Amino acid sequence: MWTKVNLLLVLLMIVGTVPVLLRAQEDAEPATQPVSHLCHFEKPLQDPTDSDTDQYCDCDVHNSQPWGLPEVHINCQRHRIGDDFWHGYEQLPQGTIRLDLSRNALTAVPVLVGSGLRYLQLSMNQITTIPDKVFANLSALLELDLSGNRIETIGTDALAGLAMIKLIDLSDNQISTIEVNAFSPLIHLERLVLSNNSLGAFFNRTDSDLYLRLGVTTRLNVLELERCNISDINLASGVGLERALLGHNRLQQLSRLPKQLSYLDLSGTPIRNLPAKFLPNLLHLEKLFLQDMPILYTIDEYALYGLPRLTLLNLQGSRNLSTIHPYVFGQNVVRNETGTALKQLILKGTNIRTLNSSLQMAFENLTLLDIRGAPLRCDCELRWLRDLPNLKVIGSCFKPSALRGKMYGTIDSHQFQCRAEQSWVYIVFNVVLVIVLLVLVAVGIFLIIRAIRPKPHIQMRKVGATSPYARVTIEPNQAEVL
Ligand SMILES: *[C@@H]1O[C@H](CO)[C@@H](O)[C@H](O)[C@H]1NC(C)=O
Ligand SMILES: *[C@@H]1O[C@H](CO)[C@@H](O)[C@H](O)[C@H]1NC(C)=O
Ligand SMILES: *[C@@H]1O[C@H](CO)[C@@H](O)[C@H](O)[C@H]1NC(C)=O
Ligand SMILES: *[C@@H]1O[C@H](CO)[C@@H](O)[C@H](O)[C@H]1NC(C)=O
Ligand SMILES: *[C@@H]1O[C@H](CO)[C@@H](O)[C@H](O)[C@H]1NC(C)=O
Ligand SMILES: *[C@@H]1O[C@H](CO)[C@@H](O)[C@H](O)[C@H]1NC(C)=O
Ligand SMILES: *[C@@H]1O[C@H](CO)[C@@H](O)[C@H](O)[C@H]1NC(C)=O
Ligand SMILES: *[C@@H]1O[C@H](CO)[C@@H](O)[C@H](O)[C@H]1NC(C)=O
Repeated sequence: MWTKVNLLLVLLMIVGTVPVLLRAQEDAEPATQPVSHLCHFEKPLQDPTDSDTDQYCDCDVHNSQPWGLPEVHINCQRHRIGDDFWHGYEQLPQGTIRLDLSRNALTAVPVLVGSGLRYLQLSMNQITTIPDKVFANLSALLELDLSGNRIETIGTDALAGLAMIKLIDLSDNQISTIEVNAFSPLIHLERLVLSNNSLGAFFNRTDSDLYLRLGVTTRLNVLELERCNISDINLASGVGLERALLGHNRLQQLSRLPKQLSYLDLSGTPIRNLPAKFLPNLLHLEKLFLQDMPILYTIDEYALYGLPRLTLLNLQGSRNLSTIHPYVFGQNVVRNETGTALKQLILKGTNIRTLNSSLQMAFENLTLLDIRGAPLRCDCELRWLRDLPNLKVIGSCFKPSALRGKMYGTIDSHQFQCRAEQSWVYIVFNVVLVIVLLVLVAVGIFLIIRAIRPKPHIQMRKVGATSPYARVTIEPNQAEVL
């Protein structure tokens, strides 16, 4: 990497800073730092197999543009840098556009001066506070990562000066308070990551409007607010918001979402059922994630009504989900009056057993149905799904037992058959019933035959002394008398 051209440029840079140093000495400013505080530009020339044991960071000079200044990337990851490393402010080497200070031992944000710095990594330190205006001399910064620290409060002036910034990551902190208008200076902010902070009580006030309270620009495009213990949030002012990640909060319903949202993630929220018009007016919504919903049981009729661009619905891992209403997209879809754009439906790991054939119209554009792990009942009621021409179904049958474990796609249409429920109780009951019927029929026939057979005329008479049938005893010795 260290070509001769680089070497020359670095020498030029060092020479270029000499006047600064001289001026600093003239002014006798004790806070001014030599340029090589982070980088030791000569050293790699002597020892190209740079080791991590020294106090200097890894500083790479890139010549991305042949005409411009070289770009310096400074990597100080895992250098055990603490707060005592800095003396006053740190003047970054000229041309520094990237500085990685992650995984060190900082407890406060250092004061850095570098008009060209664009990417600053301060993640995985122990930073508790962001001093006011600490970023004021990093006016070209585009991306700032402060995730994985212990920040509790964002003051009104903490982020002052970050006029160019597009991405700020504050996830995995302990932020519970954000002062009014803390984000107002960030007029070009496109993506704000606040996931995994304790903002529940903060957004629980009557005015839970993220935009009005915090001064977030309405141009914000991506908002990540997962795992923040939020029970309510108002994002209606976010006219530029397209992606909202609100999963694993305590949200139970959402009514104040901006209209042009195209990506919404509500995974892991305690929603019991999706009622009719659950997401009103989201005409641009394309992707909806409802994964791992612990207590989602049903998706009611009209729940997904009025979402004409919805192409992906992901319900993976919502294990209690057992019912999708046939009119989930509304009756006009069932009647083939309007269509849906749904292309992918993920029901992996849900408790869905069957899908009503009224959904056929809603599935006309569907190309992928992932139903792996669901207890699918492959009987005649599901045959319609097999017959959809463009649909790929991934998953296997759970019932009937003859088809158990068979991949859905390998089963022929005619094998989807319905038989009466054949539990053993039912069979035994039937057998007993047949036997009883046979016995009854036999008895009936016997009685009928008996009834119509002519009776023999038997006259019964008493056997008495005068009866002609009386027993006559013939004495042998009187035979001759007769
Ligand atoms: C930081 O910026 C301010 C104005 O934004 C300026 O007055 C000050 O001199 C700068 N500090 C350094 C060390 O360059
Ligand atoms: C949330 O942040 C804490 C640190 O504040 C971290 O230890 C934890 O792993 C994070 N949780 C998730 C799910 O990212
Ligand atoms: C939010 O407010 C409600 C009542 O207004 C309360 O029951 C709930 O505990 C609060 N949640 C948080 C996270 O403070
Ligand atoms: C979430 O908010 C509730 C209600 O205020 C509270 O009881 C609970 O401890 C909070 N959970 C976390 C992880 O902060
Ligand atoms: C399903 O819901 C019950 C309570 O209704 C709950 O105990 C169970 O944990 C839920 N299942 C899953 C996988 O979350
Ligand atoms: C639904 O309507 C479209 C035209 O609006 C038609 O092409 C298609 O065949 C219909 N589908 C069924 C199953 O009737
Ligand atoms: C399929 O989607 C396209 C747009 O993506 C739409 O124009 C068409 O009406 C849809 N088809 C059906 C049957 O809904
Ligand atoms: C499908 O849904 C329709 C409308 O709700 C209902 O009339 C029909 O009985 C259902 N079919 C099955 C097999 O459940």
